[in-house]
Amino acid sequence: MTKRLSVNHLLGIKQIQKEDIQLILDTAEQFKDVINRPIKKVPSLRDITIANLFFENSTRTRVSFELAEKRLSADTVNFSASSSSVKKGETLIDTVNNILAMKVDMVVMRHSSAGACVFLSKHIKAQIVNAGDGAHEHPTQALLDAFSIRERLGDLAGKKVAIIGDILHSRVALSNIFLLKKMGAEVMVCGPSTLIPRYIESLGVKVELDIRKALNWCDVANMLRIQLERQDIRYFPSLREYTMQYGLTMDMLKNLDKEILIMHPGPINRGVEITSEVADSGQSIILDQVENGVAVRMAVLYLLASRGDS
Ligand code: CP
Repeated sequence: MTKRLSVNHLLGIKQIQKEDIQLILDTAEQFKDVINRPIKKVPSLRDITIANLFFENSTRTRVSFELAEKRLSADTVNFSASSSSVKKGETLIDTVNNILAMKVDMVVMRHSSAGACVFLSKHIKAQIVNAGDGAHEHPTQALLDAFSIRERLGDLAGKKVAIIGDILHSRVALSNIFLLKKMGAEVMVCGPSTLIPRYIESLGVKVELDIRKALNWCDVANMLRIQLERQDIRYFPSLREYTMQYGLTMDMLKNLDKEILIMHPGPINRGVEITSEVADSGQSIILDQVENGVAVRMAVLYLLASRGDS
């Protein structure tokens, strides 16, 4: 029997099963082969129309979804809040329902409010893919991160992943924690205590305030930027001070007795959480993550559309 996702929407990693993650990663492997062929396009979503609704800025996720949709032959419409009638006071549901009235099957949405995708899924008929909601979840980022680790290190079970930086405001951190724990990896978060949520240990992760200890412990360090746009108070004295305490340098990596993988979801603030030397080094798989994002998003869209057929 053909394997299927257990969910009709991808709202977050919290809502999906280990088997769903496995299926998405295995399907993405096949799509990675497809996009490396001279003819990169398949007709899988020829009859599907997808609206990309970006109420918040994006470079990687937006381009990656658009490319994934084109590679699958879907029809797409792109919507950006800055140039839409949202500016005239229209509600989220009205905006989306007006777009759906034009016969859209699937909505990929990024929104600054946590829970916006869950809310929408309860009010509209189309399938929803969360492309990042506030400081809540960014499920396709966690899936492409997992794919990239698996590609380099094999099975995720037992691997040690340190997520370093602004954990408090990061949707990437939360989705990665849910995913890595479901797949049997060990997770550590590291950063200033003011940027580590109090509840985090209840998710089964270790907490470490010293970046050198975190680096010594892990197989993979996933570096996060400081999300100044979500910070309404000062969590540390200055960016310079943060960089002195938590900025990842080549010297730190050279002092380890092993070679760890370095990841970053982007956008990178070079010279703040990571030096250019590290970001561009052989240990960095940052551009692999971006490349893998297209295959992973193709897998998500394809598998959701297959459910929509039923
Ligand atoms: N990683 C990520 O979500 O990047 P964008 O904000 O550019 O989409």
